[in-house]
Amino acid sequence: MRVTYILYVLISSVLVNAFEPISTTIVGAGVTLGLAAVGKKMYNHLHESCESKWVAFNSTGLEVALDQKLFGQHVASRVIQKAVTGFMNNKNPKKSLVLSLHGWTGTGKNLVSQLIAENIYKEGMASSFVHQFVSTAHFPHLSQIENYKSQLQQWIKGNVTNCPRSMFIFDEMDKMHPGLIDCIKPYLDYYEYLDGVSYRQAIFIFLSNAGGEHITQVALEFRKAGRDREKIKLQHLEPALTLSVFNSKQSGLWHTSLIDKNLVDFFIPFLPLEYRHVLLCGMAEMSAKGLVPDQDVVDQMARELVYFPKSDKIFSVNGCKTIGSKLDYYT
Ligand SMILES: *[C@@H]1O[C@H](CO)[C@@H](O)[C@H](O)[C@H]1NC(C)=O
Ligand SMILES: *[C@@H]1O[C@H](CO)[C@@H](O)[C@H](O)[C@H]1NC(C)=O
Repeated sequence: MRVTYILYVLISSVLVNAFEPISTTIVGAGVTLGLAAVGKKMYNHLHESCESKWVAFNSTGLEVALDQKLFGQHVASRVIQKAVTGFMNNKNPKKSLVLSLHGWTGTGKNLVSQLIAENIYKEGMASSFVHQFVSTAHFPHLSQIENYKSQLQQWIKGNVTNCPRSMFIFDEMDKMHPGLIDCIKPYLDYYEYLDGVSYRQAIFIFLSNAGGEHITQVALEFRKAGRDREKIKLQHLEPALTLSVFNSKQSGLWHTSLIDKNLVDFFIPFLPLEYRHVLLCGMAEMSAKGLVPDQDVVDQMARELVYFPKSDKIFSVNGCKTIGSKLDYYT
């Protein structure tokens, strides 16, 4: 970079001298422009920008990450890989990508958002183009709802204007005020431009526990029938993700308005995790902490967790959620 820059200045000054005096101003302007371009390049080299050096999808990377880091979610894993790859490879998508992730706590919804971010943005979750909102933390007061609305709209618009390939993660979607959900609907829709801004490159990810009980029911029935968990297919879980399920008071009305308009591209179910998956999470967590994975330690930790249903204790109540801190205690 520096060498190019010095060469550029040298050559430019030779040219300036050669064409004195007529072209001085023209070449001078050229030098200034050239310097500005070099300066901008150097800046982008060191600071995150919306360019391909910082924002580029790695399909293999996502596949490998899902395979090695997400446990017990063969259905979710496949849908996510397909959905994200399809969208990212589409040069001209007709709308933003909207994924709705459903399932019990600790089943990997946050992890999946993180893996997607890491394989699109070089800076992963720390990227200035990834925005995460947790309903109860960011929008806690009902009385402030009008402020939240205009703020959220400004943020989405401002950030997508800066970088069309922006990602917005909404956690605890089932606790989000319907008014707030309404205010983000236009960005999920098929408009080419809204006030001069196109949202078609953006990614929205909704996380919620809605449908979790029904998903668990399906997993339980498979097990009771002696069928392999890995044989569960998306179509077995789809009824658990339908409108009627979401109309329950607990999950709120948000789906109704989003489903009605087909604004969600993929509903992705996360299965409840069994003992053996908790073990896998534990082993992976130990490696991630720089420890040598120890089956005995992980086993001991996994046995202390709470499982449900009470009668046959199959699924971990907190999934893999608290494993990081639990392991600190056992190691
Ligand atoms: C994409 O991910 C794969 C697997 O993690 C990795 O080996 C490869 O270097 C990545 N490619 C780029 C361009 O980062
Ligand atoms: C982008 O979103 C963040 C919240 O994640 C907000 O603080 C910031 O002001 C937004 N930027 C613009 C330009 O709107």
